[in-house]
Amino acid sequence: MAILVTGATGFLGSHLVAGLLERGHRLVLLVRAADAVAGLRRVRDALSTIGASLDERHDVTVCVGALDAPGLGLRSEDRDLITEECDAYLHCGASVRFDLSLAAAEHLPEAVRAKLRVELEAMVRREPWLAEKAARLTKEP
Ligand SMILES: NC(=O)c1ccc[n+]([C@@H]2O[C@H](COP(=O)([O-])OP(=O)(O)OC[C@H]3O[C@@H](n4cnc5c(N)ncnc54)[C@H](OP(=O)(O)O)[C@@H]3O)[C@@H](O)[C@H]2O)c1
Repeated sequence: MAILVTGATGFLGSHLVAGLLERGHRLVLLVRAADAVAGLRRVRDALSTIGASLDERHDVTVCVGALDAPGLGLRSEDRDLITEECDAYLHCGASVRFDLSLAAAEHLPEAVRAKLRVELEAMVRREPWLAEKAARLTKEP
């Protein structure tokens, strides 16, 4: 079992990640970065600012993605990893800016839909009988 955490480079997410790692959980982190190595570096930096660290004892996979990108910007391998391995989703990724343009703010519901799609895919893998219901829910308006 793994836990998907978004927003791991942020204030709330980094504290959450530090606490979950301390308890020995396997984590999959959705991080904005050029690639997984850069993403891992960003997570390490975020953890170090709160006095925590990441080492070989910790079971962490970074998936590059963005909450406001179509399909969360995930590579198909990472999408499969998330739907197959992650049993829990802890969503700390958010824009807490008050100066977003209206267009950018209106873009956010797409992020929510994309997140729901990933969650539904994971549910359908576990409970195939939900497939028909999930297809109806994910149909674009
Ligand atoms: N701070 C608190 O005390 C507190 C308390 C209760 C609830 N909350 C809630 O927790 C959430 C996060 O707050 P925070 O204080 O941790 O904010 P934060 O420090 O600004 O962190 C935001 C996180 O979200 C990520 N993010 C933003 N837009 C993204 C996108 N489009 N795709 C992927 N990742 C994205 C950021 O990644 P980048 O590093 O790439 O920008 C960062 O990791 C908010 O909903 C807030 O209301 C916060």
